[in-house]
Parts: sequence; structure tokens; C-alpha cells
Amino acid sequence: MHEIIQQLERKREQARLGGGQKRIDAQHNKGKLTARERIELLLDDGTFEEWDMFKEHRCVDFGMADNKVPSDGVVTGYGTINGRMVFVFSQDFTVFGGALSEAHAEKICKIMDKAMQVGAPVIGLNDSGGARIQEGVAALGGYAEVFQRNVMASGVIPQISLIMGPCAGGAVYSPAMTDFIFMVKDTSYMFVTGPEVVKTVTHEEVTAEELGGATTHTTKSGVADLAFENDVDALLMLRRFFNYLPLNNREKPPIRPTADPAERLDHSLDTLVPDNANKPYDIKELIIKTVDDADFFELQPDHAKNIVIGFGRMEGQTVGIVANQPMVLAGCLDIKSSIKAARFVRFCDAYNIPIITFVDVPGFMPGTAQEYSGIIKHGAKLLYAYAECTVPKITLITRKAYGGAYDVMASKHLRGDVNFAWPSAEIAVMGPKGAVEIIFREEKNNPFKVAAREQEYKAKFANPFVAGARGFIDDVIQPHETRKRICRSLVMLRNKAISNPWRKHGNIPL
Ligand code: HXC
Repeated sequence: MHEIIQQLERKREQARLGGGQKRIDAQHNKGKLTARERIELLLDDGTFEEWDMFKEHRCVDFGMADNKVPSDGVVTGYGTINGRMVFVFSQDFTVFGGALSEAHAEKICKIMDKAMQVGAPVIGLNDSGGARIQEGVAALGGYAEVFQRNVMASGVIPQISLIMGPCAGGAVYSPAMTDFIFMVKDTSYMFVTGPEVVKTVTHEEVTAEELGGATTHTTKSGVADLAFENDVDALLMLRRFFNYLPLNNREKPPIRPTADPAERLDHSLDTLVPDNANKPYDIKELIIKTVDDADFFELQPDHAKNIVIGFGRMEGQTVGIVANQPMVLAGCLDIKSSIKAARFVRFCDAYNIPIITFVDVPGFMPGTAQEYSGIIKHGAKLLYAYAECTVPKITLITRKAYGGAYDVMASKHLRGDVNFAWPSAEIAVMGPKGAVEIIFREEKNNPFKVAAREQEYKAKFANPFVAGARGFIDDVIQPHETRKRICRSLVMLRNKAISNPWRKHGNIPL
């Protein structure tokens, strides 16, 4: 027995070495941690239960029959983050560049299946050269098995991807179907086809960093939600992020006790909105001053900055926040911001996270660029998402709520549960200037008349009381009492239960 136990230890030792010390050193020299070091940092100390450590590939072509490494390039299992269950896979770049074989895919599928059965999230630490070239279609099949499970798990358990190295070809499509993608600056890349192929096909010369680095995907494409400085920073931030999420779609979001009083007033908010309606202000100030302990976890801060999304807590409970940002494009809704917010609203709805919407929006962005690119369809995504959503929805209009954008931003008509406005709110089909130009066109050459008409229009609509008179606004509140009123509304809504009619699935405009 003693010998057998020692043999097991030797086997484990060999598996832990992955592709060998030389390749581990190379990984460290690139500033990257190994697959197992990453899991150690991500999970609570000593909680990792590894599965399939001795699994090997079955490929016999191209000299692979004698080239087997236990674990086959991916470490899988489960453990806890701050005491809460999570499944994890971590690709090992030291073994065939973390490339995905059939056996490697089977390991990932096994933990995904179990995660769905027990209702715990899956975190993927991706560092892979894509499909294992030596295996051909067996590897492609392996990817498709993972994709199928990503789709089945969508809306059932949260799925998070952390990109920690190259991620090419098939390797990007699994993360693409997960709920959140985080990247590590300078060492991670995501692209469907790499720079070499790009050069051959389109004759563009582009570096891997320009094509699919963290900056590209957190600013231009919006594929990634956040980028972190290095592996350690990314894994520690992921632990923080995980605390906001429920473990599955049947759970309520977790509660973290706070000393921040629910009835806290903030008088500085009374002067947040400038006197001049065309002057911007930073909506993040309102968010920070409203949530518990000024703690706001923003997602996609550098992409479509005209809308702000992220998680905060109110009386300890996770809430999703969506807010127009008057500092960027005057807070207009355009294609990118609509898509960004729509996907976030759908995540919150799937996982029982109440949504707080702060509105200051002059409308949808006009122009050929937007129309030709399909703002009708893409703007409709946000409308659809809010309308479909059944979680508690609390809306506060701080200033402008014009046109279709008024309707879209969690209005009463889209089943907003509690709709507040500050006294500075202006709720109308459009701003005074545009309105007067259209409805009093014949007076356009008379500046005195135009000014008088604009005044008349402003007096009528540039306030929240017309909407209040119809019950579209439940109350006009003092800015300083925003937190208190939202906290009370959330308590009232705690057991809200509404459901949509039965259907196989809706047909959201894609
Ligand atoms: C098998 C691979 C591999 C792969 C890398 N390796 N990619 N082995 N299959 N896909 C091996 C290398 O042979 C090498 O082995 C080790 O991993 C490290 O690779 P290097 O090239 O030395 O590392 P680096 O210079 O850092 O470059 C990393 C890389 C590059 C950018 C990922 O290796 C690369 O471009 N790989 C191919 C990417 C690719 O085209 N994949 C297929 C995508 S198609 P040794 O023994 O020397 O250490 C795809 C289809 C799925 O995924 C579609 C589903 C929809």
C-alpha cells in the first residue's frame, strides 16, 4: 500500500509539472502564471478539488501517440470563492500551447454539466492556441460540445471568461457566449483569425495587440468587459466581481452587510444638475453617492461611454445600474450603447438582480452613420430587453427624457415598478428648439415669436408634472433623498412576482 500511495504522489507530481519546467519558466518570463497558480489565487485557500488530473488525449497521428501529458492541457474542478461554490477550468499553455483536444474538451464539458446540475457558476481561465491541430475534426467536435453547453447554461448559471493568453479561432467563441469577458493587458489576445491570415486575405498589416489586445476589445469592439494590469490583479478582481452574483437563476443575489444607512441623505445631489440644460455633469457622481459605501463595479467603462452599466449594492443587496452619461454625446442612445445596456439588462433579469435606471437622455442619435448601421434594430434591443424584463425596475429621471428614449429607459409603460423624477426633469417628445421649429414652422423668421413659443413649450413640458399628472411618474423627489427612496422601493419590491406569457422564446431583434 505504501508503494502504491507513493506512486500516486509521483503521478500527481508529474501532472503538476504540465509541459515541464522549461515551459513553466517561459510562461513566468512572459509575466504569466501557470494554470494551477491561477486557480490557487482565484479560489479560497485549499478548497480546490481537481478532477481528471490523469486524463490524456487519444491522438495517435503526427507522433502524438508517445507525446501524452497528464491533464492534457487543462486543469478542471471546483472550489469556493469567499465560501461560495464555483467550477473552474484553467488552460495550461505549457502543454501543447493549451490547445483544445477532444479529451481536453471532455474535461471542460464534465465540469459544465455538473455546474448546471448543482447550480454553480463556471469560470474559464483561457490561455489557448485554439483547436489542437494534430487532432483535426475531433478537436473541432470538442469545441462544438463546449459551445452547446455554453448555450444550455446561458441564463441558468453565470459564466465568466478570463482571457489570460492567446485566444484564437474556436477559442474565442466559447468566451463570446459567456456572460462576462475580462482580459489581461499586454498578454492576452482574442481574434477569429490572427495577423498572418489577416495579411494574406485583406492585405492589412496589423499587430496581434492592435487586432485583438485588451485595449482593442475594451474600447473599440466592446467584446471584453474589463481589462486588468496582470494575472494577479485580474484574479483578485474576479473574486471581487463574483461576490455580486447569485450562483444560479433560482437564487436571489447575495446580501453583503453594510454600515451605510438606507436613509442616508446627500445634499450635494441637490446641485448636481447644472442650471443650463445643455451643460453636462457626471452621472457617475449620482451612482457613487447612491449605492452602499460608494462601491460601484463598472463594466465596459471605456466602450460606449454614453451609457454607464455596472453592479452596486443597496442595503447589501446586489443591484444592476444603467445610466445615461450626459458627459459623452450628451447621453444620446446610439447603436453601441443600446447593445451594451441591453445585454446587461438581460443578465440582471436572468439572475433576479433588480435594475436601477438613471435617465438623462436627449434621444436616439441622429445621422446616416447610425441609420445605415441599423440603429432601428439595435436600439430596439434595449427596448425589448427592458420590456421583457420582470425583475424589480426602479427608474429616476434626473433631467432629459425625450422621445423614444423616454419610453425605452424603463418607463412606466414598460412595467417600470417605481418611476421617480427629480424636479429638474424634462419629459417631452423633443427639446424646445426642435419642437418649435416643427410645430410653429411658419413663425421661424420671427425670432421674438420663436423665443416666446420656446418659453411656452418649456413651461408646459420642461418639468416632471405633466407626466406626474398622468401617473407615469410615481413621485417627484428631492435629489438629496434619492438613496432613501430607492432603498424603500427595493424593500417594497422584494417579493415582486410577475411572469411573461408562455413561449418557446421571444425573437429579440439581433
Ligand atoms: C497544437 C499548438 C497549437 C495548436 C500552439 N501549439 N498552438 N499545438 N495545436 N493549435 C503549440 C506549439 O506547437 C508549441 O509547442 C506550443 O504550443 C507553444 O506555441 P508557440 O507558437 O511556441 O507559442 P507563441 O509563440 O507564444 O504563440 C502562441 C500562438 C501560436 C499565437 C497561440 O502558437 C499560434 O498561432 N498557434 C496556432 C493558432 C491557431 O491557428 N489555432 C487554430 C485555430 S482554428 P512546443 O512543443 O514547441 O512547446 C480553430 C478552429 C476551431 O481553433 C473552430 C471552432 C469554431
